[in-house]
Amino acid sequence: MRPLIPLLLLCSLIAGAQAPPAAQITVRAAESGPRVQRQIFGHFAEHLGYGIYGGLWVGENSKIPNTKGYRNDVIAALRQLKVPVIRWPGGCFADEYNWREGVGPRAKRPVKINTHWGGVTEPNTFGTHEFMDFAELIGAEAYVSGNVGNASPREMAEWVEYITSPAGSLADERTANGRKEAWKLPYFGLGNELWGCGGNMRAEYAADVTRRYSTFVKVPAGVKIMKMASGPSDSDYHWTEVMMRDAGRHFDGIGLHYYTLPGTWASKGPAYGFDEEAWAKTLAATLKLDEYLTKHRALMDKYDPNNRVWLGVDEWGSWYDPEPGTNRGFLQQQNTLRDALIAALNIHLFVKHAERVKMANIAQMVNVLQAILFTKDDKMLLTPTYHVFDLYKSFQDSTRLPVEIKSPWYSKEAWTMPAVSASAVKDSAGKIHIGLVNSDPNRAIAIALNVPGASATKVNGRIITASAMDARNTFEQPNALVPAPFTGAQVNAGNLKLTLPAKSVLVLDLD
Ligand code: AHR
Repeated sequence: MRPLIPLLLLCSLIAGAQAPPAAQITVRAAESGPRVQRQIFGHFAEHLGYGIYGGLWVGENSKIPNTKGYRNDVIAALRQLKVPVIRWPGGCFADEYNWREGVGPRAKRPVKINTHWGGVTEPNTFGTHEFMDFAELIGAEAYVSGNVGNASPREMAEWVEYITSPAGSLADERTANGRKEAWKLPYFGLGNELWGCGGNMRAEYAADVTRRYSTFVKVPAGVKIMKMASGPSDSDYHWTEVMMRDAGRHFDGIGLHYYTLPGTWASKGPAYGFDEEAWAKTLAATLKLDEYLTKHRALMDKYDPNNRVWLGVDEWGSWYDPEPGTNRGFLQQQNTLRDALIAALNIHLFVKHAERVKMANIAQMVNVLQAILFTKDDKMLLTPTYHVFDLYKSFQDSTRLPVEIKSPWYSKEAWTMPAVSASAVKDSAGKIHIGLVNSDPNRAIAIALNVPGASATKVNGRIITASAMDARNTFEQPNALVPAPFTGAQVNAGNLKLTLPAKSVLVLDLD
């Protein structure tokens, strides 16, 4: 007769092996952290590929349904998302942009070459009026990026005056061009990537240039404008140190740029059709931002202990090899479930660093890099990244809640990370919203979610997940990857239990 105990042991081992790994999360609902500004859900639209022409703008005479030249489908999708702020006209394009060429009768505007992006012609049809009116139309704030690269401080000063002044010759010219009332211009960029396409400056020189240009950005009495300095890339702490030390009094915000690449700048890797190692490597690259934000913030605290200056992540997102068969200078790439997780993980990091991170602008809005919308002729589709922004809408202008997480690890080859990421806020009506990400593409995770201080009795949620890591929407199948209602959470006296599917983003709304 065989002994019974080893058999029982074997059974329990098998049962144990099948149980999903478990995570414990505590959200302290009675405590409150900093405000989570809606501007961290901001966007970036550059004159690059089909980002503007064909993407936002088709012109009044187009057969594509439009309002004064702006695509109706795009307007509706952006309004639905409550886009808080848009940065324009670049990017590297802004470093060479002459605003004067983009005002006045469209037929008379000069046709230039977009030397940075694809060498194609730039008709200047979409200029200051078209952008400022567009921002108003969708209810977003305008963030105009000035040209410090190859324009003078005078050109910059006149552009700001043209946009914001109620009187004077430039206001008269604006009126003659169709707009009497001054526009609101809450944010103005003192150049873009001064360390690169904005002039290849050293930090010490850029700090002096920033002081000089900032001096001439003036708005009428009673009008507020935030001057955003060109900040570092990735881990360039020297840049932050020098800018904050030598020019910090001359700006109100500084913009960090951080792109998520699975590979190198020379060989970034494909947007879809990748393996699990590329999945893990890409998510690990995104999570690196936590360290960068921590260290840049520490330097900012050193020179700005009163927390006056905003840290804006005014370019972020995934950057892959371009879609085969497209102009390499157009930066067109597909958008998959992996991008949905990248978006959610970045949002969690912005919320985590909300004391200082007050704005972020995804690169880019339509058809470029980690776009939220794709357009093709008269068709438009919502990407997985769009759906994540939609899931997290309730985080706009909320209050961060403290979150503690005990998560199993997810590892693949050299890449290791906590499988679960969580972020929680309380909105202005007192409702709690919790964002959860499971980065493990293979294993669901059992979550015990404790919310002391909450009196919720009901929970609703929406989830985005799929069986393939590179699930995506195409013009043939535009709704292949869309959020679904999540009904798998049970609430009991402030505690929730749920199973978070592999490779998923879930946002829970407590009632
Ligand atoms: O978003 C594409 C480009 O990336 C921007 O023009 C530039 O600022 C950055 O290098």
